[in-house]
Amino acid sequence: MLKIENLSVGYQEGKNVLKKLNMSIKDGETVGLVGANGAGKSTLLMSLVGILLPFEGRIAIDGIELDKKHLKEIRERIGVVFQNPDDQLFMANVYDDIAFGLRNMGRSEEEIQHRISRVLRELGVEHLEEMSSNRISGGEKRIIAIAAILVMEPSVILFDEPTSFLDPRTRRRLIRLLQGVPMTKLIATHDLDMALELCDRVIILKDGEIFAQGNAKDILTQKELLEEAGLELPYCLQGAEYLGTKHSGS
Ligand SMILES: Nc1ncnc2c1ncn2[C@@H]1O[C@H](COP(=O)(O)OP(=O)(O)O)[C@@H](O)[C@H]1O
Ligand SMILES: [Mg+2]
Repeated sequence: MLKIENLSVGYQEGKNVLKKLNMSIKDGETVGLVGANGAGKSTLLMSLVGILLPFEGRIAIDGIELDKKHLKEIRERIGVVFQNPDDQLFMANVYDDIAFGLRNMGRSEEEIQHRISRVLRELGVEHLEEMSSNRISGGEKRIIAIAAILVMEPSVILFDEPTSFLDPRTRRRLIRLLQGVPMTKLIATHDLDMALELCDRVIILKDGEIFAQGNAKDILTQKELLEEAGLELPYCLQGAEYLGTKHSGS
């Protein structure tokens, strides 16, 4: 259980990006976090792993308070897959990148080897284990960045724009992969089609506040609501209307 109460946070004192935010996410839930550029999605994810500390309010994960004292415990429970895998992968090879977190946690090399093999097998990318990190494609990097979090077995995983820059086939593969991840997931995304397919619930952020939230289908089918938040209907729902405007030439 992830609980956020009255959270205000930002990059400079006195300038709140998130404003008195309240949110809770149940175990096993998949929640989409959507909103226009600058709404505060990435800021929220960074707060949840303690990269940004709150000006006000509190965050608790499985009843453990996120503060300086509990940072290590919190980071064993919650992991974030950053938008740019290069922010996460900085070792010379794939194996060491995935092992990094577990080594920090003081796990034995034997256990690390075992866990890495299992995760790579589950993701269908065993062949990447021996590769050097700068020899794999962007889509593969995204998958390795996810593997590096999965291998830590956190109870909550945060994803920042997981499908951005992926070709359609890699995107599809990633969606399937996320469907198979049993952990609690909070997914910040502009890919509303993915959110519709994958998420139980959707939260719309606007200017650092919750603008709307609810069942993914209920929220993502409301054209006007989405437009007020600077978004559009998912492409799969734009259908005839979308094609119509394309062909009419107007
Ligand atoms: N490193 C930073 N320093 C100062 N302001 C920032 C920084 N990162 C983001 N912001 C500001 O915080 C607000 C929310 O940004 P962000 O959380 O990145 O939004 P989103 O991920 O929804 O696009 C924006 O106004 C942005 O300019
Ligand atoms: Mg962002």
